[in-house]
Amino acid sequence: MRFLVTAGPTREFMDPVRFLSNRSSGKMGYAIAVAARDRGHEVVLISGPVSLSAPEGIRVVSVVSAAEMLDAVSTHFESCDALVMAAAVADWRPVEVSRLKVKKRQASSTLTLEPTADILMTLKPRKGSRTVVGFAAETADVEAEARRKVTAKRLDMIVANDVSQPDAGFDVDTNRVMFITADAPAIPFPVMSKREVAERIVKWVEQKRPGGMISEPRRPDQGQPLPVSEGTRLAKQWDFIREIDKLKSVLRRTLLLDGSRYENDAEHSWHLAVMAVLLCEHANEPRLDLARVIRMVLVHDIVEIDAGDTYCYDEIGNRDKVAREQVAAQRLFGLLPDEQRQDLMSIWAEFEARVTPEAKFAAALDRVQPLMHNFGTAGVVWKSHGVRSGQVLERNQHVEEGSRVLWEFAEDMIRDAVKRGYLDP
Ligand code: CTP
Repeated sequence: MRFLVTAGPTREFMDPVRFLSNRSSGKMGYAIAVAARDRGHEVVLISGPVSLSAPEGIRVVSVVSAAEMLDAVSTHFESCDALVMAAAVADWRPVEVSRLKVKKRQASSTLTLEPTADILMTLKPRKGSRTVVGFAAETADVEAEARRKVTAKRLDMIVANDVSQPDAGFDVDTNRVMFITADAPAIPFPVMSKREVAERIVKWVEQKRPGGMISEPRRPDQGQPLPVSEGTRLAKQWDFIREIDKLKSVLRRTLLLDGSRYENDAEHSWHLAVMAVLLCEHANEPRLDLARVIRMVLVHDIVEIDAGDTYCYDEIGNRDKVAREQVAAQRLFGLLPDEQRQDLMSIWAEFEARVTPEAKFAAALDRVQPLMHNFGTAGVVWKSHGVRSGQVLERNQHVEEGSRVLWEFAEDMIRDAVKRGYLDP
């Protein structure tokens, strides 16, 4: 891919020696350019005045003012696949620029300013299929402000950070950021080096390109109709198989272990099926019907196509969850031929009721997998929802009914998460 990256501050001169600028060091933008280069991309870096040396293998275009940066970005935008605007572009510039140094005795005590052009806003109509990522350095209402900018500037994603924190923002080597898209919950990250943040950004752009799943709007249609005769058994089965493709677009509040994005329901179900195969020896029930457990975990979340994923600590959402899911089950399994509809409905209902040993074990897997993901991503999702260890223990204690071994493992993980500060006590 061809990456266009901007970095550093801009300077808005009022005379040959004085200017308005900001604290940006350029480190974040340079780290993104280097990460993109190291992952095999072609990179053009447009840099404001910084004291960093030009990285090898990267074409650096040096600019000074916001107007020059706009020119340079505009020129290179046409031929890029992705723009990452990490530069801290000055929002204001002096209306009058003196050719000669303004002497103390001549200077007035007020400086008249005018706004600079907003580069992302200017490029908005030319976006096309390019991926555009912005940055939002905030000191208050970080998420709300960043969300506003994602929409206003029609960005695919904005990297938001609270620059009032000592480990984030200007001139430090670490950053604590959130990835925010227009239509998904924010992805919060723990403190990371700028290099690590840069890699996450580049990877995010890469996975977005082939069709992306995070901010891509849902397609209302399900592709072309299949060439099968209507009303036949096979047609009904295909209807269902096509319909469950939508499960791949239902996002959960669990991050992938690499923290790059939220996992979807289909990925979660597949993960549980593999876990069932491997971990069935730890079930309390020695004569477990493994095939039944696998069937159960593969269908257990299908109702979320209609009912949506309800975050387990969302009290209001959980109130009408059962009713919403019943209606969804009737519609979705109802697409199938009669006996398959009954079969899958009963498998799904068995999972929900959590009475049989198979259902208890499947439910244990369904709890342990997100625990592992929360632990693996340093509890950033727990933290961002203010979840406490007591809630996690209570929510997961029925793991024990399916597998005492997995419950012990889960308890250890929760205790360790508290010790490491991933989860509030
Ligand atoms: N940006 C831009 N042109 C400007 C100012 C900012 O393209 N003249 C870009 C930045 O590079 C960043 C994003 O817009 O990727 C958000 O910048 P920020 O300064 O946070 O937003 P503003 O729209 O300037 O809002 P405010 O200063 O009011 O927070």
